[in-house]
Amino acid sequence: MSTSTSRATGASAEAIQQHYDVSNAFYELWLDPGMTYSAALWLREEDDLDAAQRAKLDWHLDNLRIESAPRILDVGCGWGSMMRRALERNPDCRAQGLTLSQAQADRIQAQPSERISVALQSWAEHSVAEPYDGIVSVGAFEHFARLDQKLEDKIAGYRSFFDFCHRSLKPGGRLSLQTISYETAERKDFSKFFAEEIFPESDLPHIAEIEQASRHLFEIVHLRNDRTHYARTLRHWLRNLRARKAEARAMVGDAVYERYEKYLGMMVVAFHTGTMNLTRICFQRLDDARPRALAG
Ligand SMILES: C[S@@+](CC[C@H](N)C(=O)[O-])C[C@H]1O[C@@H](n2cnc3c(N)ncnc32)[C@H](O)[C@@H]1O
Repeated sequence: MSTSTSRATGASAEAIQQHYDVSNAFYELWLDPGMTYSAALWLREEDDLDAAQRAKLDWHLDNLRIESAPRILDVGCGWGSMMRRALERNPDCRAQGLTLSQAQADRIQAQPSERISVALQSWAEHSVAEPYDGIVSVGAFEHFARLDQKLEDKIAGYRSFFDFCHRSLKPGGRLSLQTISYETAERKDFSKFFAEEIFPESDLPHIAEIEQASRHLFEIVHLRNDRTHYARTLRHWLRNLRARKAEARAMVGDAVYERYEKYLGMMVVAFHTGTMNLTRICFQRLDDARPRALAG
């Protein structure tokens, strides 16, 4: 495994680890048992968090047509829930995960599987010997640009990601992406608290920027905006965290506990009011893509 930063394309490994390496045991207190750390997909009123997270994993794996995808890449694999679900659905599949979090990589490696590999590596440093059948990336795109970048550099960074996905996919391959996006808010509204204490060196995309950066490389098969799904997920996380308050405080200290409680509460409001959205996009590789300059 190599440790590498990705300053040219977004948050560094150090910035990622500031958030994700707080403590695996702390995240276990308030995430679902599969440790999925992104918006769930609430299909039925009676679903609990576990069921809604599984529905989200399945939505993305359906996009990848997982039953006929022998090799997949998960960019920003977290604690590995997508890869484990991929193997449940297709036991012959092999999954490669990438994360910049040491704690996440350690946890995946603590449950060894011949069919799951994880690298502590940015997509920008990942070399692909043989193209994948499908690529999924959930909740990582939020870290692929920084607030201090010029707009054209931000979009060029996103373009590098789509270029990477294009050359890393077989003809006919699909990319399933999930990211928080700006809705009524803009870069200048990004809260100082979030920028300094929660998600350092990170920025969010507008949907138009995603479309621009992927143009001529991928076509959009379908897209859904699910901000109410993120608000509901966050309310579950916040409720779980508050229910384990004493343990959480003992584990990470009062200041970290309060920071997370404030962050989750602010996110509920943001998704509820629509300053931010939660965008899920299924992309199809354009196999006859010609090299072109980034379209304006
Ligand atoms: C919010 S977590 C989502 C994890 C997982 N996809 C899930 O839904 O549970 C974001 C993930 O993106 C990863 N990440 C951020 N920037 C990355 C990069 N440049 N290359 C690879 N992974 C990255 C983080 O290490 C983390 O695993």
